[in-house]
Amino acid sequence: MPKQYYLTTPIYYVNAAPHIGTALTTLAADVTASYQKMRGAHTHFLTGTDENGIKVQEAALAAGTQPQAFVDEISKHFQEIWTGLGIRYDDFIRTTEPRHVHTVHEFFSILVKNGHIYKGRYEGWYDVSSETYFKEADLVDGKSPDGNEVRWVEEENYFFRLSAFGDRLREHIEQNPSFILPEVRRNEVLGFIRQGLKDACISRANPGWGIPVPGDESQVVYVWFDALINYVSATGWPKAGWEELWPADVEWMGKDILTRFHATLWPAMLMGVGLPLPKTLVGHGWMLMGGAKISKSKGNVVAPLELAAELSETSGCSKEIGIDCVRYYMAATMPYEADSVFTRADFELRYNTDLANDLGNALNRSLAMAHKFVDGKIPGGAVEAEVSEAVQSAVAEFEVAMDAFRIDHAMSATWKLVRFLNKYIDTRAPWALAKSGDGALQAVLRSMVFALRALEGMVRPAMPSAADRIAAQLGLEPTRDWGRIGDDSLLPSGTALGQPEPIFPRIEAKPRVEKEKKMPEIEAPQPAAPVNHEIGIEDFQKVRLRVGRVLEAEPIEGSDKLLRLQVIVEGSQRQIVAGIRQQYTAEDLIGRQVVVVTNLKPVKLRGHESQGMLLAAVDEGGGAILLQPDKAAPEGSVVR
Ligand code: MSP
Repeated sequence: MPKQYYLTTPIYYVNAAPHIGTALTTLAADVTASYQKMRGAHTHFLTGTDENGIKVQEAALAAGTQPQAFVDEISKHFQEIWTGLGIRYDDFIRTTEPRHVHTVHEFFSILVKNGHIYKGRYEGWYDVSSETYFKEADLVDGKSPDGNEVRWVEEENYFFRLSAFGDRLREHIEQNPSFILPEVRRNEVLGFIRQGLKDACISRANPGWGIPVPGDESQVVYVWFDALINYVSATGWPKAGWEELWPADVEWMGKDILTRFHATLWPAMLMGVGLPLPKTLVGHGWMLMGGAKISKSKGNVVAPLELAAELSETSGCSKEIGIDCVRYYMAATMPYEADSVFTRADFELRYNTDLANDLGNALNRSLAMAHKFVDGKIPGGAVEAEVSEAVQSAVAEFEVAMDAFRIDHAMSATWKLVRFLNKYIDTRAPWALAKSGDGALQAVLRSMVFALRALEGMVRPAMPSAADRIAAQLGLEPTRDWGRIGDDSLLPSGTALGQPEPIFPRIEAKPRVEKEKKMPEIEAPQPAAPVNHEIGIEDFQKVRLRVGRVLEAEPIEGSDKLLRLQVIVEGSQRQIVAGIRQQYTAEDLIGRQVVVVTNLKPVKLRGHESQGMLLAAVDEGGGAILLQPDKAAPEGSVVR
């Protein structure tokens, strides 16, 4: 079998359930794997749980459980959560599994044989929270640099001659610029190596939990030393066939575990046994909340599946789409060099703007117009040049971003195309082409579907369920082959399009930003005397006013006043019956932007349901003068 594209996440400590901070790394790997698979790579995606170590043993003790039962339970929980989040890993490794214990023993024994391990005495500090050794000089106010409690340790232990690998490591990093990404982290690692690497203590006195040192049951292997080996254990090494996977193509992780562990200790260990080094290590930034890294110890955790369920409840989107939206949010805000900040308000805002407004609207209005103007079928003809160019350049930008492991940039390339499409629809105005009988209508509608087809492929790595829904609404097979994105032959003319069904309904509740905003602590001036008919702003805010666009208009039989309109507003089509026939013809109205009251109770007028009202000024004779934005407003804009 040829070498597979092998990618890994860190293995997670099982002292607590996953949160959106840990989900970030896993999602980054999942999006990378899915994209590589679409590009035709044979991918192998490994994740797992780190189950040895004092931290886990003490968490089990605190929970009043035996460590093995405790780790079994939490590891299962991790697997359930990853599956729930749509993470498509190929292998899940647990460090209590025999296959791992076996590889650690082999690894340790070869290092002993090669003269890289010796016995010595450790005297220093130990931070259980990060399972890290610290020298006195590293401490800040008696705590670890991260502010964790430390314990004094004095023990006979085994040491790994890390100090002997400094020069080789530095050379490798300098000669392979993409070995450590981002560049800022690479420089940190080089700085760390230049200070001089110290030999690493790689065992602890056996506390009854952990992997015993081969040939010395009084000691267990230091948890980081054992954990790093997981990436090789999962390849089956030293059994034949491991070369199909190793070396890893990319190892994803957060920046905190790069310098001391993955970028120095790990490659030195590999050099010590004679194995090749991973091709790339990516140490992304953190996701912060309330000014601190999201972590169980800080108590600021948000569970990814709960966040998705909350979104489904507030917006009305399906459960699967709620999950995709959490995935999209994490992908779009994936910290790289800097950290990113999570707030629920930002999460909801991005949902409403990027998904409900931009992507959802582009899809809904395109389908609604195709049904209205070309019988709901993909029209034939050529795609307009500006659209095929926009697709090509978005795809190229996505590819460059993914080559550099910039998932956030890949998402912005995709949304550049979404926004281009909405603008293209506004400027090419298919409703006006239909009205004037312009022959370009077919090409414009085909171009719109063409761009949506490309978007369906581009959102797939991050949002697989949404991509399936888009493909179904377009009446097309899902795009599985990245190389065919933008391929016009995948758009057979005459294909029946599905009905537009909003995939991302807007969050209707008052935006959280407002709810969270503190009210100024000044008293509102009291009116001198109550005035009739005055209302407070809260009354006005009850009226939901939005910009919509008229797609269809026709007179209602038997009435000389009423017109029946189909208006697209906030991504969906609604029927509005308006008493404006004396002032406007259907032709006057099609394509026009209008202001719609969208939260009026539906009423029946002459047997036709009206699901809203248009705003109009009233002329001297009581006739309507429709209100219209002064210039083209983004579809669905709030009016206030
Ligand atoms: N068990 C070790 C890894 C061993 S790998 C051989 C470990 N586990 S962890 O559960 O504490 O963290 C796992 C990963 O989650 C790390 O890459 C860490 O950076 C990442 N994150 C945990 N919280 C995070 C944020 N708030 N933001 C971004 N990444 C975060 O370390």
